[in-house]
Amino acid sequence: MSDNRVQIFDTTLRDGEQVPGCKLNTEQKLIIAEQLDKLGVDIIEAGFPVSSPGDFKSVEEISKIVKNATVCGLTRSVENDIKVAGEALKYAKTARIHTGIGTSESHIKFKFKSTQEDIIERAVKAVSYAKTFVEDVEFYAEDAGRTDNGYLARVCEAVIKAGATVLNIPDTTGYCLPHEYGAKIKYLKENVTGIDRAILSCHCHNDLGLATANSIEGVINGARQIECTINGIGERAGNTALEEVVMILKQHPYLNLDTGIQTEMLYGISQLVSDSMGIYTQPNKAIVGANAFAHSSGIHQDGVIKNRETYEIIDPKDVGVTESAIVLTARSGRAALAYRAKNIGYELTKLQLDEIYTNFLDFADKKKEVDDNDIHQIIEGSKVYKEIASS
Ligand code: KIV
Ligand code: ZN
Repeated sequence: MSDNRVQIFDTTLRDGEQVPGCKLNTEQKLIIAEQLDKLGVDIIEAGFPVSSPGDFKSVEEISKIVKNATVCGLTRSVENDIKVAGEALKYAKTARIHTGIGTSESHIKFKFKSTQEDIIERAVKAVSYAKTFVEDVEFYAEDAGRTDNGYLARVCEAVIKAGATVLNIPDTTGYCLPHEYGAKIKYLKENVTGIDRAILSCHCHNDLGLATANSIEGVINGARQIECTINGIGERAGNTALEEVVMILKQHPYLNLDTGIQTEMLYGISQLVSDSMGIYTQPNKAIVGANAFAHSSGIHQDGVIKNRETYEIIDPKDVGVTESAIVLTARSGRAALAYRAKNIGYELTKLQLDEIYTNFLDFADKKKEVDDNDIHQIIEGSKVYKEIASS
């Protein structure tokens, strides 16, 4: 694999599905997994098999149907978790076990009531045991964002020796600033013996709205995998949004970092996940929100009608949106009204447009958004209608 290729690890069905009240059944998970596979993600984290019989079944069934992606199951550094994950993944064409343990001072002290040395021992044991089931073992150092870099490097070194193929560096609490997260990845690249034998992975949460920025800083500094979810769904404020990191790398080719994602599928899969989980996507959501390619102010509309790139950095077709939308409101100008009227069959002269525009503003002041039916009504109710109809 080229050194410029960033692997996309989708965790919509694991970290994403941890959103309260948004449980998916196995059938819904299978539909989403099939679409993720077509989308071109490299790894599908299908669930946490030991957590419930339903999750075990989902991971097992997903393993049977996925054709291209690696299927992954999450575990703690607990022998039974790993054994159960190994069983759930047995039908996968390529399987990965994702095991790990908390490494920050607070996790070691309060969650495990343990010591740094004991945590390294448990981590090594977990990776070695996972290796008896699958070749591909990813290790997560939970709360790596708040873990001292020197200690984190020691953990990474030990698990690479035990056979870990991927090192996940989660900013579990979404606390890091982008330059800090980037520096952490750089530090590990430069200070972990054996790092060339493993891929560093970014797993960022969005508590401060920095998940996407942190993941991008991570890959700029040498990580080659991003863990993300469709629409950025996940615990609390969510995870890194898949569609955002993919489009950032695509729209900034000078970074020389590629993914294998079929970007034209992004909008469709966003809708699928939102509908299946019953989680509404905010209209101003980057890339896939209802307003991501909608223009409503007169100045912007005029610019976009003359040349789309005036106010758009992405061609909507590249993410599966048919076209930019010119939304008519009381802030719209004549150019937008003429454009929308033409789309439904009215070619207006300047004089006709002047009269209709005045009526349009009266109407738009009373209604938030003017649709095609309203435009018909406004034109047909105008004095110049006869002239238009006969032309
Ligand atoms: O956020 C996190 O630390 C996680 C790990 C379990 C990978 O989701
Ligand atoms: Zn997470």
